[in-house]
Amino acid sequence: MAAADSAVCLARPAAAGRAERGDLHPGIWPLTARAVAGGDVLVGGVTLGEIAARHGTPAYIVDEADVRQRCRAYRQAFPDAEIAYAGKAFLCRAMARWVDEEGLSLDVCSEGELAVASSAGFPAGRIVLHGNAKTPADLRAAVAYGVGRIVVDSPGEIARIAALARPRQRVLVRVTPGVDAHAHRAVATGVEDQKFGFSLSSGAAADAVRRILAQPELQLVGLHCHLGSQITRPDASETAARRLAALMAAIHAEHGVTLPELNLGGGHGVPYTEDDQDFDLTGFAERIRVVVRGACASLRLPVPRLTVEPGRAIISRAMVTLYRVVSVKHLADLRTFVAVDGGMSDNPRPTLYGARYSVRAVSRPTVPTQLVTVVGRHCEAGDVLATDVTLPAGTRPGDLLAVACTGAYNHSMASNYNLVGRPPVVAVRDGAARLLVRRETASDLHQRDIGL
Ligand code: LLP
Repeated sequence: MAAADSAVCLARPAAAGRAERGDLHPGIWPLTARAVAGGDVLVGGVTLGEIAARHGTPAYIVDEADVRQRCRAYRQAFPDAEIAYAGKAFLCRAMARWVDEEGLSLDVCSEGELAVASSAGFPAGRIVLHGNAKTPADLRAAVAYGVGRIVVDSPGEIARIAALARPRQRVLVRVTPGVDAHAHRAVATGVEDQKFGFSLSSGAAADAVRRILAQPELQLVGLHCHLGSQITRPDASETAARRLAALMAAIHAEHGVTLPELNLGGGHGVPYTEDDQDFDLTGFAERIRVVVRGACASLRLPVPRLTVEPGRAIISRAMVTLYRVVSVKHLADLRTFVAVDGGMSDNPRPTLYGARYSVRAVSRPTVPTQLVTVVGRHCEAGDVLATDVTLPAGTRPGDLLAVACTGAYNHSMASNYNLVGRPPVVAVRDGAARLLVRRETASDLHQRDIGL
C-alpha cells in the first residue's frame, strides 16, 4: 500500500462522538470531561472552577481514568507485546503506580526518572533504561536497582555497563534504521545524522552487536529503534521493523544467536486541535504484527516479542492546564492578546516546536466568540500559548481558561524562567481531586541559591 493510502487507512476523524460532550472535542479533552452550564468543565467529576479555587492557577489537572483507559487500549491493541510507558512524557510517583497497576513497563532515561520509579516501587524487571549519553550515575543507579534492560546507545557504554553488571545485565542495541518518519526535526530519530543509536547502513549496529556478544557480563536480548514523535503513518515503522528483522537474521547467521526482543519505540501521534487526525492504534498494531510475522517467516526467524514505548499517546489527552487571565490587550486592527498567569515555563512546546493547542474558557458561556491570541506572562515576545483561537467575547482578567492535551512534555519540560515556580499536578477521579505534585514556591527556588 502506498504511503498516502496508509495514512488514510489509519486516520480516523477525531470528531466522532462530539454530541455527548457538548463543545468538548472528544479526541482532545480528557475522556471524563463534560461541559456544564455556564461554561465550566467537569473532569473526573470535579469542576475546573472548584480545582482553581482550591489549588490555584496555573495548575495541571490529570484525569486518572483517562490514563488507565489509554494503558488498557494499548494492551488490547497489542495483546502479546510489552507496552513500556515512556516516562519522559510525564512522570511522578502516582503516574508510575498507575502504569504499574495497568501492567505496563516503564522506559526511563535518567537517574532522576529511575528514582521516581523506584520510590513508587516500580518493579525493576519491567524498567528499560535509555539515553544517548548515560552518565556513570545513571548506569550505576540502573544496575543497582536491577533494571530489566539497558538500551546501549554508544560504543563506550558497552565496557562501562559490563564493568558494573552483577552478574549479567540484559541489553538491547539501539539501531538507527535510516527511516524518515516525517517527524519534527527536533524529534526525528530514525534518520542518519542525529545523535541517537548505531547506524544500520554503516555497519555500526552490527559492530556494536559483535562487541556486546564478546562481553560475558552482557546478555544481548534484542534490538531497539525509535523513529521520532507525532508519527501518524505506519509505513515508516513497517520499514524499520523489516530492517531490524533483517539485522536479527544476519546476527543469527553470523553468531548463531536468536534475539528474543524487538523494541520499536514510541512516537504515536495524538491530535491537539480539532483539525488534527487521530491515530488508529488497533490498525497500527495489526499492520506491525503482520509485517513482523511476515518478515520473520521469510527470514526463517522465530517471531520476537514486540515492545512499544508510547509516552504522549498515554498521557497527553489526560491532562489540561488551568490558567487565570491576567490581562487583555486589544491592538487596534491587529489582534487581541489574552495573557494568562503561566506560559512558556509550564508549556514550552509552542515556542520550541510551533505546537498548536486548543483553549477553552471555563468561567463564562463560550458564545458569542472573538478571535484572540493567548500568551503567557514571561518576558519574551515568543511566549505564546495559542495563536488565533476563539474565546468568549468579553473575556476579562480573572476568567479561567483551560488548555487541552497538555499531559505530554509540558510538566516534564517545565522551567523556572523568570523565577516562576512550576505548577502543581492535581489528579481527579470519581468526584475527588488529589494533589500529586505540589506547587513550587519562591522558597523552593531560594533554597537552591546558597551563594550569598
Ligand atoms: N522511546 C524513546 C526511546 C524515546 O526517545 C521517546 C521520546 C519515546 C519512546 C516516546 O515518544 P512519544 O510516544 O512520547 O512521542 N519533547 C518533545 C518530544 C521528545 C520525545 C523524546 N523521545 C515534545 O514535546 O514533543
